[in-house]
Amino acid sequence: MIHEPVLLKEVLEFLITNPEGIYVDGTVGSGGHSEAIAEIVCQKGGRLICIDRDPDAVAFSKNRLLSKQCVKVVKANYKDIDIVLANEGIDKVDGILLDLGMSSMQLEDSGRGFSFLKDEPLDMRMDPQQPVKAKDLVNNLSEYELSRIIKEYGEERKARLIAKAIIRERRKKPIESSLELAKIVSSVIAEKERRKHPATKTFQALRIAVNKELENLKEFLEKVPDLLKKGGRVVIISYHSLEDRLVKSYIKKWENPCTCPPNLPYCICGKKPVMKRVIKKGIKPTESEIQKNPRSRSAILRVVERL
Ligand SMILES: C[S@@+](CC[C@H](N)C(=O)[O-])C[C@H]1O[C@@H](n2cnc3c(N)ncnc32)[C@H](O)[C@@H]1O
Repeated sequence: MIHEPVLLKEVLEFLITNPEGIYVDGTVGSGGHSEAIAEIVCQKGGRLICIDRDPDAVAFSKNRLLSKQCVKVVKANYKDIDIVLANEGIDKVDGILLDLGMSSMQLEDSGRGFSFLKDEPLDMRMDPQQPVKAKDLVNNLSEYELSRIIKEYGEERKARLIAKAIIRERRKKPIESSLELAKIVSSVIAEKERRKHPATKTFQALRIAVNKELENLKEFLEKVPDLLKKGGRVVIISYHSLEDRLVKSYIKKWENPCTCPPNLPYCICGKKPVMKRVIKKGIKPTESEIQKNPRSRSAILRVVERL
């Protein structure tokens, strides 16, 4: 299934400040955003470096963007963006896009157990070279650790009950497939509590843990100010509050890095703002976009500019 790019018009409007500049799409996926960015920058002499850790996404987007001469697609983790850019002989760029989460291709067609509606091996690795699969966590972690992950990364109130049920079932036989896990989770969530599929939060939690999604985002955010030219922008689309909270905490730190005690009459630490918000609040998709593309429902886009 082809992935529909989320908030595309807004990404183009806020990301591209100079069509002759250098841009990075850190999560190219199936190349929807990148294709539109390339349409604008390639004809003006700009460049676009595309990154994804999933080899299937890299192969797909390479093919899709074949005719765009100014595009380079690289298999890498966006947390290593500085290394990718150094390999291309690039020091600083005009804009960086991250469209977090997973793609429709991964959910529907990867065969890696991202969906609780499909019976697939319980893998969930975005990059098959990563050492740990979801089934390793589910079958080996302690009840305490499982419960912590499901609570922290899934924001699931029933985490302890779910972890208990997983431990009970895995004593009978190892849990191997996505559907097996979905059934175990469903068995402990009452009908009346089911506004979404009962396994939604548990699957989100395991995916975040397997792919170290928050650690990667943090490492990336640490590097951003050093990689942007003056006036360059980072545009980030998040899909759940854990990601968005992390992004917001960095925005706050970039805008006000002063570490002086609040009761000091003036700043003595000398730390000056490095980035500023371009839009005060995050942008959400319109009702009509959500109707056309239900996966955009939880998206929030933030834009920050290098000072
Ligand atoms: C929501 S999709 C991007 C869709 C894309 N914007 C499009 O228009 O097709 C997210 C992509 O980010 C990739 N991804 C997630 N974490 C990553 C990381 N740490 N480094 C590189 N790619 C990552 C996933 O493999 C997935 O392909």
